[in-house]
Order: sequence, then structure tokens, then C-alpha cells
Amino acid sequence: MTLGYQSGFGNEFATEALPGALPVGRNSPQVCPYGLYAEQLTGTAFTAPRHQNRRSWLYRIRPTAQHGPFQVLPQGTFHNAFQGLASPDQLRWSPQPLPTAPTDFLDGLFTMAGNGAPEAGTGIAIHTYAANRSMQGRFFYDADGELLILPQQGTLQIRTELGALALQPQEIAVIPRGIRFTVDLPDGPATGYVCENLGAALRLSDLGPIGSNGLASSRDFQTPVAAYEDVEGAFALVAKFQGRLWQAPIGHSPLDVVAWHGNYAPYKYDLRRFNTLGSISYDHPDPSIFLVLTSPSDTPGVGNLDLVIFPPRILAMENTFRPPWFHRNVASEFMGLIHGNYDAKADGFVPGGASLHNSFTGHGPDPATFDKATAADTSKPDYLRETMAFMFESRLALRPTEQAMDATHRQRDYQACWSGLRKHFDPTRP
Ligand SMILES: [Fe+2]
Repeated sequence: MTLGYQSGFGNEFATEALPGALPVGRNSPQVCPYGLYAEQLTGTAFTAPRHQNRRSWLYRIRPTAQHGPFQVLPQGTFHNAFQGLASPDQLRWSPQPLPTAPTDFLDGLFTMAGNGAPEAGTGIAIHTYAANRSMQGRFFYDADGELLILPQQGTLQIRTELGALALQPQEIAVIPRGIRFTVDLPDGPATGYVCENLGAALRLSDLGPIGSNGLASSRDFQTPVAAYEDVEGAFALVAKFQGRLWQAPIGHSPLDVVAWHGNYAPYKYDLRRFNTLGSISYDHPDPSIFLVLTSPSDTPGVGNLDLVIFPPRILAMENTFRPPWFHRNVASEFMGLIHGNYDAKADGFVPGGASLHNSFTGHGPDPATFDKATAADTSKPDYLRETMAFMFESRLALRPTEQAMDATHRQRDYQACWSGLRKHFDPTRP
């Protein structure tokens, strides 16, 4: 598949891999150019407000209805089984180990935590992945949620119905619900994070008093141009439907869309393009200042999922404890580190690792970070150049899966990172 991109977030795109493949003037002409089938794909209710309405028209070699019967697959490590005990403990994990057996992106997904449920149409499921080979002869779609993919190591070549995306660490991609795709690993082993958004589709955050520029810019979001493959063979179509994986035989590649138009499409974004804002007087702002994308809930201002990043930045606040303060929030926070160091922890939180601090669970810097920040000369700026951390923030508690709690890569001594904080209180020394 050829690579090419169109710029803009949620734009009304129009793209064709063959000249004249896109009908003009009507969505479903009596006969489509090149003998293609016309098919509509809707991502929102038909009657959603126009500015939130998402749908695309696809012109394809065969309609998506053409495949064999689905059969449920045995449950692996990728699922939505997070209905167990939710722990108020601080939790942290080392990176998911790379597999030793041949493992593709789909088999390499490991569900860590989640809330809500696909049948409720709300919540999120958080997964990590570790894979060492391309998906071979199989294609996937997720009917339950859109997939927000954050590579930490290795390139992902994501071939979708609507075109191909090449994804590197420090970039993110979003594959909307229902869109069929397959993942190649052109550079070998790959690890990273996936948030399966079971709620409203991700959108750009509002900017409020920031103004018309700043944070993530619409023009930096890239959607693939149409590209298709006309291939027949004994392939498998894997669907995630209501929390479980299903598989059906299919005699052709479903990535056979020759032209499409609309605003329901995959996209990618380079996190290094983020225009980071912050305090230039005093105090460390709330992390909402680093909001990239948000999935709103039905309560205004409260996210089903907020993607927040902690990118390279310059800290200039004076007479201020500059790292993230000690805190506990109503929201629940799942964090990962894509690159470099994170400024609230001296060690233990490493690239590829993860932490979970649930609703009202206290957390914050470790003793080494606290001591360094309280002794720092804040008349000089701090340059944080080698870092890219992120947070999936959700309004509901995140329930870790049994496999995440039992995993050998869970750091069972994580809480001890705060045990060395000394008592500094002295009633005679104001
Ligand atoms: Fe936090």
C-alpha cells in the first residue's frame, strides 16, 4: 500500500487511489466507477449534530458483508474482563516482556485495566502490547471501541481499509470503531500501549482562555489517502465484539477500498508537535493543560477518557516545587512512559512501564525527587528535554485485570517508593 496523508482533524476528506473512482454528486450512483460497491460506514448516530456527525462513504471491490460465519475464539490476554476487585493501592508495572514465541500485534495485546463496558457504550479498556511479527493473513476490527495506539518501541505499519499509517514511537494513531486493519512490524519487535475507548469518540480539546492556538493543532493530524489491495486467499477476519474475540473465514483482503470520502477515518499525530504551555510565574498547573484528545462523558467537562501527555518542556516557575505535587484526584490515572525520564520519579518508572493511581489514591514524587526539587535554584529554568510520558485519565475507577495483578512484571514493592519520605515538621521553625 502506498503511503500518503491528508491534514486536519475530522475534516471532510475525499481521496481516490484510481482516477475517477470517487463518484461526484451522489454517494450511491446506480453504477459505481470501476465496478465498485458503494458502502456507508457511520460512526455516530444518523441524527447526531452536524459538527459531531461522523460517517464515510467507501467504494470497494467487495462489500464487507462477504465473509464466512464467526466463531468465538478462546479468550487470550486481550479482553474486557475487568469486573474484578478494584484496588485502592498504588500500582506499577515494569514493561511487558517481549514474547519468545511468534506473536503478532493482536496476540501481543495484554489487557491491564478498564472501566465501563462495551454493552454500556461507556468506559475504557487499557492494554499494553509486545509483538515480534506481522499479522499474517488476518485482519481485525474492534466493534466495541476506537483504538488509541501509542508505540513505545518499534514501527507499526497499520494497513487499514481507508489507507496505511506508518507509526513510530512518540506518534499516536486512532483507529475508529469498526474499521478493518492489519499490523505489520517492518523493523522487528514492537511494544506500546493501547487505549480502547468504549465511549464517545475522541476529539480535540477546547482551548478556552488559551485562545485559538496551542496544545494540539488540527493541521498536525494526518489521515491516510485511499490505498487498496486486490488479493484473494484463505484469510481470517477477527472481530472484537462485546468484549470477546470472534473469527470468520474470508476469501479476500478486506482492505479493498479504492476510494472514499467522509470524516470517519483513522488518523495519526506526532506528539512532538504538541505546543506545550505552562506556568511562567509560579505553581505547577493542573495536567489538563497538557490535554491532547478527550472523549467526553455525558457530564460537561468530565472525561470518559482524557489523553494527557508530559512532553519536553522548560520549567520556569519561581519559588515553586516544580515537579508534580503530591495529590489525589477524583479521576483515575493510568500512566505510561514512551521516552526518557519522568520528572516525578527518580527511578522505577521506566519506558514501557505503567502505573495506576485510582480515584483518591494518594501519590506523587519519591524522596529523591522531593529532596532535589526542594533544594533546586528556581531562579534558573529547568530544561526537560528527554521525556515523553502520557496519562489516560478517566472519570471512573480503573479496575485492573486479574492477569495484570498476577503478572510477574508487576512491581509488588511500588508503595515502598514513598516510605523514605522523612518527617520535616518542626513547630518551632515557621
Ligand atoms: Fe497523578
